Amino acid sequence: MEYTVNDLKVYTKGNKNNKPIIFIHGFPYDHTMWDYQIDKLKENFYCVSYDIRGLGQSYIGDGQYTMEAFVWDLFSIIDGLHIEDPIVCGLSMGGYIALRAIEKEPERFAGVILCDTRAEADNNEGKIARSNAIDKINVEDVESFVNDFVPKCFHKKTPVRNPEMYERIFYTCKSQNSIGVKGALIAMLSRRDSTKSLKEIKVPTLVLVGRKDILTPPAVMKEMAKDIKKSKFYIVPKSGHMTPLENPEFVNEKVEKFLEKNYVSKS
Ligand code: MLT
Repeated sequence: MEYTVNDLKVYTKGNKNNKPIIFIHGFPYDHTMWDYQIDKLKENFYCVSYDIRGLGQSYIGDGQYTMEAFVWDLFSIIDGLHIEDPIVCGLSMGGYIALRAIEKEPERFAGVILCDTRAEADNNEGKIARSNAIDKINVEDVESFVNDFVPKCFHKKTPVRNPEMYERIFYTCKSQNSIGVKGALIAMLSRRDSTKSLKEIKVPTLVLVGRKDILTPPAVMKEMAKDIKKSKFYIVPKSGHMTPLENPEFVNEKVEKFLEKNYVSKS
């Protein structure tokens, strides 16, 4: 099913009576980056994905976004579709949204899946890199930015292992609107640090990171997982930053095990 909630395009698959999982995509992707997971999980879970404001088919507006606004958008979907006790699953920027959402209103969530993300805010170097990216889009265009940025997100062998997926994702990113892409960069640049509240996460949490992720490396995510009490941490082989797309078999297996253990009746 497709819905428009608060100007956001929301997509659901599966039976609404099943346990809900909300999938939040990374930057500068859209909801389709979760297709491999949703195809697998839709039989037993209510799978909800959406396009973050400014990206995909969601409303673009003036591009003045903040991470706080992205979190309110998530809450508006939960409320608008009457979703109860969801598990939230976010990759990278989607993880920033998930972490801030659970920090703000922990009682809303039954579990967390964090892929290739981090709790720290951008450091000075990171802020400058975001500014340079915005300049590049202003002076050149989104396509030039994507040509630079997206290859860094993938394992160097992924374009050979799965050329069809790689081309499709590249096309999705190049088609994004420049106002939306710059708005997301500013929202990430100005986000707060969620490190201190990791210890407050009480729900089961799965933490996954690609072995060759250079944007949010395994060492960073391992530290993050250590701070979360009920967390399980796995390194995803044959993968860079985009684990759900680069090694869906491994990711799906770990996600299914996590869900089975924590949410499916064992009777
Ligand atoms: C993402 O995949 O969402 C981005 O790499 C996040 C970021 O640039 O911090």
